[in-house]
Amino acid sequence: DDYQLGEFTDFMRKEMHEQPEAVHRALLGRLEERFATARLGGIGLDAHALRSVRRVKFLGCGSAYYAGQLGANLVEELARLPADAEPASEFRYRNPVVDPDTLYVAVSQSGETADTLAAVQELGRKGGRVIGVVNVVGSAIARECGSGVFLHAGPEVSVASTKAVTNMSVCFAMLALLLGRMRDLSVANGRRIVTALADLPARIAEVLAAEEEIAEAARRFGAARHMFFIGRVRGWPVAREGAQKLKEISYVHAEAYQAAELKHGPLALIDERMPSVVLVPDDDLLTKNIGTIEQIKARGGPVLAVSNAELPGGLADVVLRVPRTEPELDPILFAIPLQLFAYHLATHLGRDIDKPRNLAKSVTVE
Ligand code: AGP
Repeated sequence: DDYQLGEFTDFMRKEMHEQPEAVHRALLGRLEERFATARLGGIGLDAHALRSVRRVKFLGCGSAYYAGQLGANLVEELARLPADAEPASEFRYRNPVVDPDTLYVAVSQSGETADTLAAVQELGRKGGRVIGVVNVVGSAIARECGSGVFLHAGPEVSVASTKAVTNMSVCFAMLALLLGRMRDLSVANGRRIVTALADLPARIAEVLAAEEEIAEAARRFGAARHMFFIGRVRGWPVAREGAQKLKEISYVHAEAYQAAELKHGPLALIDERMPSVVLVPDDDLLTKNIGTIEQIKARGGPVLAVSNAELPGGLADVVLRVPRTEPELDPILFAIPLQLFAYHLATHLGRDIDKPRNLAKSVTVE
């Protein structure tokens, strides 16, 4: 009840601007500089138990599921453990094989999402090892899991989740770091990630400082009725989350696609009325992503590129610059301009930002 709007006109914008502070809180006391790892005491698993993990599966709904996908990528990259994410809403209905060597991670801002809670209960019945990554202390999912990592994002009121989703990704990076440093990840690589994580709040603040430029880009695409969000590997969960944010608050139809899948069908939809937001991190897939933009442009599709690379002049219609971090953490940072983009496009269309139609903040019924 003490959580007020203050200088802001809606909670979504306030919560986006709280992200540097929220990420700082998520990291507080959890980065272990000396051994280049993370300290996550709440997960209740000792070194032996953590070393026995052979696979990681993230379960969540909506944005928490997309964050889980980002987390699975981080676990595979940093810990070289097979990992994936599944919508918690599907899990119990497909009679899942529950594997004792898998670490299940239930992900939820509210801790009250009925489908995620039911997935945790199903795991409990079948003897799965599950930890919670949850924001609300004392919530049903936190209690049912009994151990895990709290997000420390602070209260989140806006239906469109922003700071909680960012903190999920940050917590997954720490989990991946912890698992990685017990396996193949070197001290030097661990330190690289620790330093970049500690630096994230400042980098996020830089994105937020470019808000007006992002708002301008959003207005430029304000007439679109449909949009693609295109990402590849690390960028794919970010594209899904970007599309989700836009759909929720602007009611513009947005579809996320893996870059290389475009040519297998959806390229047929590209014309001058179908803009694409393309994620172009400066990593080993840069030239592939540039090629994707060229394919879209060749069919007359407008392109907004989100990038931390030096892109060839005139490649995209608009380029939003993202600050640099370590490539593994790019997805965390790339998600921020997409939140602002959705917010400003929805504002431009006169939508009720904090109360989008047909949606509730937490879905406590099936
Ligand atoms: C996020 O913007 C959405 N409102 C929604 O997808 C949400 O992430 C989902 O319902 C899960 O909620 P939870 O994190 O509280 O479990």
